[in-house]
Amino acid sequence: MTTKPTVLVTGGAGYIGSHAVLALRDAGYGVVVIDNLVTGFDWAVPADVPLVRGDIADQTLVEATLRDHAITAIMHFAGSVVVPESVENPLKYYHNNSAKTRDLIDSAVRVGVPHFIFSSTAATYGTPDVEKVREDTPQRPINPYGMSKLMTEYMLRDVAAAHPLNFCALRYFNVAGADPQGRTGQSTAGATHLIKVAVEAALGKRAGVGIFGTDFDTPDGTGVRDYIHVSDLAAAHVLALEALIADPARSHLLNCGYGRGFSVLEVLDAVDRITNRTIERTLLPRRAGDPAALISDNSAILATLPWQPRHADLDLIVSHALAWERSLDERQGA
Ligand code: UFG
Repeated sequence: MTTKPTVLVTGGAGYIGSHAVLALRDAGYGVVVIDNLVTGFDWAVPADVPLVRGDIADQTLVEATLRDHAITAIMHFAGSVVVPESVENPLKYYHNNSAKTRDLIDSAVRVGVPHFIFSSTAATYGTPDVEKVREDTPQRPINPYGMSKLMTEYMLRDVAAAHPLNFCALRYFNVAGADPQGRTGQSTAGATHLIKVAVEAALGKRAGVGIFGTDFDTPDGTGVRDYIHVSDLAAAHVLALEALIADPARSHLLNCGYGRGFSVLEVLDAVDRITNRTIERTLLPRRAGDPAALISDNSAILATLPWQPRHADLDLIVSHALAWERSLDERQGA
């Protein structure tokens, strides 16, 4: 029996969305997923969670779903997430991430859904010239992916001013790891994210890892990022929902990171240490558009939400990613 409100999770069959589904369910919320299964997997959605297979811009379908399940909040994860692809095909990103989200927000307003939680990104900051990025650091995206997400932040700000809806945009830093209980993880083929690529290499699924740049202005010359465990991120979404319900007059823009960075070499060393193997490393030129370092100032989220990161440990993040990678082949065949 659900006594807590019911949340519609778009992209709930995908990597981060499927962790949010588990966090909501574990906290006693009702959950409904809508996913077009282009990059998600139906098996990533628990059997007792309704899965609506369809598009977030199908307003007839979305509005029927919102009404049928008396949805109180939307957590919006559905979208395209590959930065280099956004450079080659910007219209795909403005379509999937901006235009379709506009239709989803329109459906929320038409049905009267009062709360909206949005997956934003540190990519909205571009290449900041501060050591730790605050929410008021100027947002100057350097690729269409970041711009497509920033456009949605602007839409939500304007809609919240005009309609009875409040929102929380969570700006993710580098999301990694997998559910500690092994229920879901990062499953989409052709990954480009460092920790996923490194554990694939450690398990012999790829020949090695290329290091994109060794001449950055960082302690060891490789790129530094603020890696956040996906389950801590999912927990932040549940707390953001509770903050929106508690004070419907307030909206929030919050960085999601741990406020500390690791270099590419430190990440590869962690994978080597945990697997007791040595990943083949190839030194490559810098990847276009990569900032030297991107680390959050997370004081706003810590002050706003009762968020207590439980997995803020690089070795733990890597070991959960590794455990998921090991189990993935069997699961995908299941
Ligand atoms: N890297 C390598 N080799 C690889 C993959 C990555 O050296 O095979 C390096 C990158 O150059 C970077 C770091 O590892 O220094 C992390 O790269 P990722 O591709 O894992 O992640 P990004 O920091 O590029 O991107 C992440 C999110 C994006 C988001 C962005 C915000 O994945 O969705 O942060 O800047 F937009």
